Amino acid sequence: MKPIDAKTDDDQTFEVEIERLLPGGVGLAHAGGLTLFVSLAAPGDVVRVKIDRVQGSVGFASIVEVLNASAVRVEPPCPYFGRCGGCDFQQLTYEAQLQAKVEMIRDCLHRIGKLELPEEIPITPSVDEWHYRSRATWQVDSDARLLGYFERGTNRVCDVEYCAVLAPQLQQTLEKVRKYVATKSSRQPRHIDAVLGDEGLSVSPAIAGFSARVISRHIADEHYQFSADTFFQINHQMLEPLMASAMGDMTGQKAIDLYCGVGLFTIPMARRFARVTGVEANARAAEFARRNVESAKLENIEIANLGVADWLKHSRSFEVLDFLLLDPPRVGCENAVIAGILGMRPRRIAYVSCDPATLARDLKKLIAENYSLDSVAAFDMFPQTHHVETVARLTAERQL
Ligand SMILES: C[S@@+](CC[C@H](N)C(=O)[O-])C[C@H]1O[C@@H](n2cnc3c(N)ncnc32)[C@H](O)[C@@H]1O
Repeated sequence: MKPIDAKTDDDQTFEVEIERLLPGGVGLAHAGGLTLFVSLAAPGDVVRVKIDRVQGSVGFASIVEVLNASAVRVEPPCPYFGRCGGCDFQQLTYEAQLQAKVEMIRDCLHRIGKLELPEEIPITPSVDEWHYRSRATWQVDSDARLLGYFERGTNRVCDVEYCAVLAPQLQQTLEKVRKYVATKSSRQPRHIDAVLGDEGLSVSPAIAGFSARVISRHIADEHYQFSADTFFQINHQMLEPLMASAMGDMTGQKAIDLYCGVGLFTIPMARRFARVTGVEANARAAEFARRNVESAKLENIEIANLGVADWLKHSRSFEVLDFLLLDPPRVGCENAVIAGILGMRPRRIAYVSCDPATLARDLKKLIAENYSLDSVAAFDMFPQTHHVETVARLTAERQL
């Protein structure tokens, strides 16, 4: 096959076989001297692809025709599949989605973290494969009066009437908010956040008769208040097993919960440890965390409303720190955070991550200094997408 010239071969197509799925959810193939990242592929597919963009020796490609469908390929049920940037795994059986996620974690740990796991990585499937999302951000196109999600790889709004991963009550809200956006001539917000709690919805900014009110959820015997303008996890039915996995059977004197949000892990940790500190940069989330601590009638928690790097810089070190849990955003931890954690010398660490690549990068640094990896477990919090939640647990090799 002749090499691809990125400037002249715009209309050229190639017949390739998808070797496997890579972290990020794309299919791996090779053609014309390029490594191809093929979107919306299934492992084992034989497909005709066109190259959309070339960067160095990598071509970003899309499928023009499926010539021989993989045994794990299914017909995506969503009419917006391929255009909407939301779900990129609907073309796979649910089993294949789970397997791909485990392989992505293993791939990142091996390639980025230089870690080999002798055992299988267990993955807990989602309770619901569809209609699991209790939180959504809808994008608004004020000029065209459209509401939906961004189209794949763009900032154009894909007008969405029905979203198959939304919880039914959120779908009803989507319909009402859509009507409001379609009829309102004044300028609209650029995006609208909506979240579902035990007593109904919170929508931010307030729109179409919905308000940004405080709502709550009971999860694993605890009660959490939050609203649409603060972070709260998407797949509420998966939180109990996620929390159990992260905390294990840990008990002791002192524990820290970094990136604590509204206190999802902080509060159950305070039932097991004599003193707990939660650290959260977002003022509104920290305020909810304090409120949740108060309504749980717990007096052994301190919530610091600071960035983690700042807090670590200014906090005193503890004689004994039994447990440190961290659940950073997708970007993972800055170097200063890893250095600060190492300086605190926690006996055990649980790292909860929504990005296997940054998790692997950060684990490598912790393990290089003083930790051994006890276990890695995956949770399918985001079915129909390539995203996956991972819990890695570590133990200090020596008390410095
Ligand atoms: C993935 S969420 C986890 C929240 C919480 N653990 C939960 O499960 O609900 C990450 C949280 O980190 C907060 N955050 C982001 N960057 C931060 C930083 N540099 N320092 C402290 N908190 C930060 C966000 O506001 C968000 O609440």
